[in-house]
Amino acid sequence: MATINRLEEIGRDLEVEFIPEPLLSRYTTLGVGGVTPYLFFPEERNLTPLLTTLFNEGIPYRVMGLGSNLVVSDSGVAEVVVTLRRVSSPIKVRGSIVSVGGGFPLSKLAKRVGELGLSGLEPLSGIPGSVGGAIKMNAGSFGMEIGSLVEKVVLFSPSSGVREVSREELSFSYRGSGVSQGEIVLAVELRLTPEEPALVIKRLREFRRRRELTQPIGERSAGCIFKNPEGASAGRLIDEAGLKGMRRGGAVISTKHANFIINEGGATASDVFALIDKMKEEVLRLFGIELEEEVEVWGER
Ligand code: FAD
Ligand code: EPU
Repeated sequence: MATINRLEEIGRDLEVEFIPEPLLSRYTTLGVGGVTPYLFFPEERNLTPLLTTLFNEGIPYRVMGLGSNLVVSDSGVAEVVVTLRRVSSPIKVRGSIVSVGGGFPLSKLAKRVGELGLSGLEPLSGIPGSVGGAIKMNAGSFGMEIGSLVEKVVLFSPSSGVREVSREELSFSYRGSGVSQGEIVLAVELRLTPEEPALVIKRLREFRRRRELTQPIGERSAGCIFKNPEGASAGRLIDEAGLKGMRRGGAVISTKHANFIINEGGATASDVFALIDKMKEEVLRLFGIELEEEVEVWGER
């Protein structure tokens, strides 16, 4: 691993803002997690030089979007973290095709294009991730997944450079995509449908309301902890196991939706892992179903 001096030099030379040894709990929606040696905040202009330099010098790194699908361990991560939250070039519209940088917030995009009279993203509004994170995870809700709107995705990796791929080439699946480990989503092109702005805005409100009625919006969480098993709902199974409201330290299983763990204040990753283990254990014991995490765990459990 490079020394802190070398990391600082890279940041300064490439004019990338950075913070040494920040707590990652401050950069995730769940609000748990220890430190990374270094957190970089690149913009479009210096993102690829930064990743290339880290790669060439053998400095391991992780890429973060808006940190809304992550549980970071209390002991943090050994790798440098590159957050893409500033890689959010303005929205460009060409007919019904919209392009935007990978770090742009998905909900903000849904609202902006809605105001311009472009429909398609309404069901995803309320997902607090970036567009790039949504592509990587193939984020979905209310029967719709972002992959279905993709015209083109611009990917980058230091070993293979920039490549443009179509929806078919990415082979999206339930909460998965063909974006591989070392690749980042630089930019995305989505094909939307022209419609009366007022109608799109109305639908945005309706989906927001449906989400507010069923999910603990406005509280600190990482969204659904587990994927839904084939033909079942993880939330319903955890609910039927009687686990709503179960608490470990500052973490609690939401009483509104049992597949959400809430950080009520002062929760640690260990609290969250203890609840995750309990949820898995009880669902397996009672229903014989093995739940699989949807959230990504960073660092040692
Ligand atoms: P992060 O959490 O930062 O990262 C997740 C993964 O994506 C990591 O592997 C990271 O390395 C990778 N990544 C991030 N950006 C990029 C990029 N540009 N290029 C390549 N890899 C990248 N998810 C749903 O699918 N449906 C929902 O309805 C939903 N509701 C949610 C509600 C709440 C209240 C919360 C807190 C979360 C919810 N989520 C939902 C989960 C989460 O918002 C999504 O998975 C989102 O797409 C993650 O985006 P992110 O930018 O926060 O990614
Ligand atoms: N249910 C319960 N108790 C609960 C939660 C749910 O009985 O505590 C029941 C509901 O009444 C309903 C069924 O389970 O009959 C399904 O619940 P819901 O409609 O809330 O959907 P879900 O399958 O739990 C999925 C996604 C969400 C997405 C919603 C809305 C997964 C793991 N979750 O939830 O995505 O927002 O549909 O479409 O696929 C996420 O991925 O992070 C996420 C929040």
